Order: sequence, then structure tokens, then C-alpha cells
Amino acid sequence: MNSFFLGTNWKMHKTADEAAEYIQKLDGFAREFPEFTAFLIPPYTALWRMRSYIDEHQAPFLLGAQNVHEEAEGAYTGEISLPMLQEIGVDLVEIGHSERRQYYNETDFSVNRKARRTVDAGLTALICIGENAQEKAVGVSAEKIRLQLKTALYGIEVDSVSRIWIAYEPVWAIGDQGIPAEGGYVAEIHACIREGLIAQFGAQGREVPVLYGGSVHADNCTAYLNDPNINGLFIGRSAWQADRFYEIMQIVRRARS
Ligand code: PGA
Repeated sequence: MNSFFLGTNWKMHKTADEAAEYIQKLDGFAREFPEFTAFLIPPYTALWRMRSYIDEHQAPFLLGAQNVHEEAEGAYTGEISLPMLQEIGVDLVEIGHSERRQYYNETDFSVNRKARRTVDAGLTALICIGENAQEKAVGVSAEKIRLQLKTALYGIEVDSVSRIWIAYEPVWAIGDQGIPAEGGYVAEIHACIREGLIAQFGAQGREVPVLYGGSVHADNCTAYLNDPNINGLFIGRSAWQADRFYEIMQIVRRARS
């Protein structure tokens, strides 16, 4: 895998106007980084504006949605379907972020249904997995990860492998109270994820990007760059300002060259 993946999920932050300002600013910086696959995951309400900007300026960013409903349509007030996202021209869909699991009762099984629908629709599924603090404390992180991954990928065939990305985001590392994971620990878990991907997809499992996320910032991002199974970084707070995301891009470039 030549490209290194760098992206950000904005969670419930930024209006469409703020999103437009951000992408314009980042685009001013980020043209010079062809070695990265850069992606932005704003709230639904900013997707149209971001798509228009990207298309108009041929900006080098993939665009993602933070979630999707598993059905194409129906009586699901407040939900957004894949055809709606396809109409906008979204490239990828984030599925199973720990906040979705924690606050909206998403399970490995619903993650699997959403992931299958997403890849069948020709979009990339960015599947998030990660153990919580209690699981880590009793030493079942690897077991939990294997279970989440295997369930999430159930029924997804190798011909869809190019539309699967995995983000390892330990719950205890995410957000304001999060403790960034040690590089060596992430490498161990990513090796376990790689094994699971190879078990599912054979040799092509090596081609699936596996990203780390959880309190990544400018001062710790280089800890995650030296392992062949860590193919990118998925960043929250530290990439919500365009210049801070750009700073991380510069650091990652320097460290990898
Ligand atoms: P954080 O968020 O970088 O702010 O910890 C990561 C995430 O939730 O993806």
C-alpha cells in the first residue's frame, strides 16, 4: 500500500458555512501531499457544500458520511439512507464509531448490515472497531477486536475488498478524556486485525487500509508511523482546524520520508 491515509471525523461540529471555510483553507495547503489519501467526514448537513467545493476545485479529498441507515427507505424518522448519500456523491461511509455504539445502541450486527449495504452500493465502508477500558484491563482486547472484525465483515466477499477500510479506535483513547494508545500496543492490535483480514479475504486482506484513531495529535502522531500494518491516522479534535490538520500532514510527511 503506497498511500498513507489521513482523515478526520468532525462529529457534531461545524455548520455548512464553517465546513466551506475549512475545506477552502485546507485545500490551500493540502495540494502538495499526493502521498496521502485525505478524507473529510463532516455532519450530513455539510455534505452538499463540501461535495460542490471538491468537484468545482478538483480538491484532493474523499468525502465521507458519519453513518447511514441500513434500509434504502422506510419509516425511520431522522435517518439517512444510502441512495441519499449516493445522490450527493459521498465516497465513503463511517460505520460503527464508538459513539454510535455507545449512544445509539449500534452493535456488531448492525455494523455488518450497514457495511454490506455500503459496499454493495459501491461506496467504501470505513468500519470502526475498538475495545473499551474494562476489556483492555482484563486482557481481552485482541479477542474483542477479532470478534468485532469477523462479525462486521460477515458475508462480505473478496470482490468488495477494495471498498473496506478499518479504523482501530480503542474507546479509552477517544475524546477529551482519552489516553492515546502506545505505538507498540497499536502495532500489536493492527497485526491481529491484519490476520483477521487475511482470514476473511486471503492475500488481498493485506491491501485493506487499517487506520489508528484516538487522541492523535501533532506531538504523538509519529508514534504510529513505523509499523507496516498501520496505514493511516483517523483524527478527531486535532484536525478540526485546517491549519492543525495541515501541521499533522507536514509532520507525518517528514517522519515518513
Ligand atoms: P479524537 O477522536 O481524535 O478527538 O480522540 C477520534 C475519533 O473519535 O475518531
